[in-house]
Amino acid sequence: MKTVLETKDLCKNFGGLKAMDSINLDIKDQEIVALIGPNGAGKTTFFNCITGMHQPSSGDVFAIPPQLNQVSLKGKKPNRVTEIGLARTFQNIRLFGKMTVLQNVMVGRHCRTKNNFLEAVIRSSRFKREERETVKFSQDLLETFGLLEFAHNLAENLPYAAQRRLEIARALATEPFLLLLDEPAAGMNPQETQELDQLILQIREEKNISILLIEHDMKLVMRISDRIFVMNQGKQIAQGSPGEIQNNKAVIQAYLGEE
Ligand SMILES: Nc1ncnc2c1ncn2[C@@H]1O[C@H](COP(=O)(O)OP(=O)(O)OP(=O)(O)O)[C@@H](O)[C@H]1O
Ligand SMILES: [Mg+2]
Repeated sequence: MKTVLETKDLCKNFGGLKAMDSINLDIKDQEIVALIGPNGAGKTTFFNCITGMHQPSSGDVFAIPPQLNQVSLKGKKPNRVTEIGLARTFQNIRLFGKMTVLQNVMVGRHCRTKNNFLEAVIRSSRFKREERETVKFSQDLLETFGLLEFAHNLAENLPYAAQRRLEIARALATEPFLLLLDEPAAGMNPQETQELDQLILQIREEKNISILLIEHDMKLVMRISDRIFVMNQGKQIAQGSPGEIQNNKAVIQAYLGEE
């Protein structure tokens, strides 16, 4: 299977703290990979360093988008990383609360449209056609996520689990080849989490993309992951199949906090 993302000895220091120490992680085409580890392990820092929100202290990140050559993401700005084809959600929901559900998804879509500011002002025919396409594309995504009936509600008025789903829909509107989810099940009840399972599997199936998710809900991780990477205190301590990780001594110790 083709690799779509690879990090080489990726490090991030905050002052004297090694938040991330020599991480080598790879993701294959259409794989679902989980990144797990106790609080403060460096998981979100990893996402921030590959999406351009933080500069890595050393090491490198390579993306290999389908049908394109390998490109280093190091030093790229977040919007450029999105254009290359990585999309993410955040541990703390970051929706535009005062915008409608539909508008939130349309904002995501705009990184793939060609209209410039002038065309929007004069409302050229190309602008109008592209806008119609954007609405249709966004509505289709909302339907997949069971959110179409809320299209014209303000995002901030959605129930919590629906806001989490909307964040994923907005990320997918950028048409990524790799979707990064930071604790997508946080705050969900068991039934909502199971629905999320199905949704993540469905996204992979329908969009043919790879998914890397950070998640504390081990049932969800074990149910849907092809492979699991484990971090603890900035270091990579294990990787393997769900079965291998469940029985890994170092992983069990990291979670129980034992020496
Ligand atoms: N911007 C920052 N400045 C300084 N220290 C930071 C910064 N971001 C993260 N850290 C520190 O880096 C370490 C790793 O944090 P990170 O948020 O990556 O952990 P995490 O694995 O995502 O944890 P959690 O499961 O709690 O979300 C922590 O000790 C954290 O306090
Ligand atoms: Mg985190």
